[in-house]
Amino acid sequence: MIIVTGGAGFIGANFVLDWLRDCDEPIVNVDNLTYAGNAETLAPLAGDPRHIFSQVDICDRAAIDALFVTYRPHAILHFAAESHVDRSINGPAEFVQTNVVGTFTLLEAARAYWNGLAGDEKAAFRFLHVSTDEVFGSLNPTDPAFNEHTAYAPNSPYSASKAASDHFVRAYHHTYGLPTLTTNCSNNYGPYQFPEKLIPLTIINAIGGKKLPVYGDGKNVRDWLYVTDHCAAIRTVLQKGVPGETYNIGGWNEQANIDVVHTLCRTLDELRPSASGTAYAAQIEFVKDRPGHDRRYAIDATRIERELGWRPAETFETGIRKTVLWYLEHPEWVAGVTSGSYRHWMETHYAGTV
Ligand code: NAD
Ligand code: TYD
Repeated sequence: MIIVTGGAGFIGANFVLDWLRDCDEPIVNVDNLTYAGNAETLAPLAGDPRHIFSQVDICDRAAIDALFVTYRPHAILHFAAESHVDRSINGPAEFVQTNVVGTFTLLEAARAYWNGLAGDEKAAFRFLHVSTDEVFGSLNPTDPAFNEHTAYAPNSPYSASKAASDHFVRAYHHTYGLPTLTTNCSNNYGPYQFPEKLIPLTIINAIGGKKLPVYGDGKNVRDWLYVTDHCAAIRTVLQKGVPGETYNIGGWNEQANIDVVHTLCRTLDELRPSASGTAYAAQIEFVKDRPGHDRRYAIDATRIERELGWRPAETFETGIRKTVLWYLEHPEWVAGVTSGSYRHWMETHYAGTV
């Protein structure tokens, strides 16, 4: 039995679905269903006894303690977070609460539980903290990619809150010996991503005939990784990672935003040409830049590849094609998210059971 936090969000839900597709070990999915949590994504697991959904805030210490006592997990995988940089600029308080106080609360609950374990159970327990490459700040064009020794230099309220949570995780290993693992991954893309992020926003706006907003000059660079490759990397770190260590995860795939948007437009031109026959790229619009916008992120994933044997399975080409096809083939999921009806999914499908 493992506990996953944030398992109704983009990466957490992909992780839960992949895990239960491949093995029978049950998951307690702890998610308080913020705007980014979508229970509809977990619909394929309705009635599956291996998936126990618990609508709990990670800041609720008593509720988290109760989950540890009831389910006695051998690991907790912590995905839950406020995750959108633009929202963190408009309202940073939630980011401090969930990302810092929430992570601290989980660490305290995990420490109390782990202290009560003995022998093999105690040795086997892991606290895996899912973090981001944004904690390392911004690179110049010729700088080497981030590795596990790069100094932290977060620039947005989002990355500052993630950096703070990473520091707490580090301190809990160093001070209390809690067997922690931290992963710092680059930008993910793939199925079930909330359309406030660049790739799903571009796909959905394109087919909806709307503008495709590109911030600034469009030359900010991100490393992109297909979400199931990130999930596989997390499983590898859980199995083989050394407690107290951190692992950078990336796709060796740096792309300027404008190139990402053009790739999406070309893929859509081929798979779902616009009714008028006009290329989707005509909808691109350069808009006001994000304040403090980090110029470049790049990940050196040598360590996880060499020490743990993980490599991404998808290239950007295969991953983008799969992603575009997924959004085209799941108009009901997109409609639920864009209309907001996904927020009522739990009440209508699970009335009285959660
Ligand atoms: P997301 O925003 O899609 O999902 C976050 C989930 O956490 C949602 O289901 C939400 O309901 C839940 N949540 C938020 N606050 C909570 C709280 N107080 N209690 C319980 N649940 C809560 O995020 P994501 O993109 O899936 O990211 C998951 C993790 O991976 C985050 O920690 C993020 O920092 C990290 N990460 C994301 C990316 C990326 O490109 N998306 C890249 C690297 C790392
Ligand atoms: P985003 O998906 O928000 O991820 P992050 O900010 O965590 O990297 O944005 C990815 C990049 O795309 C980032 O450089 C900001 C840019 N961007 C746009 O140009 N237009 C948009 O509408 C969005 C949402 C992002």
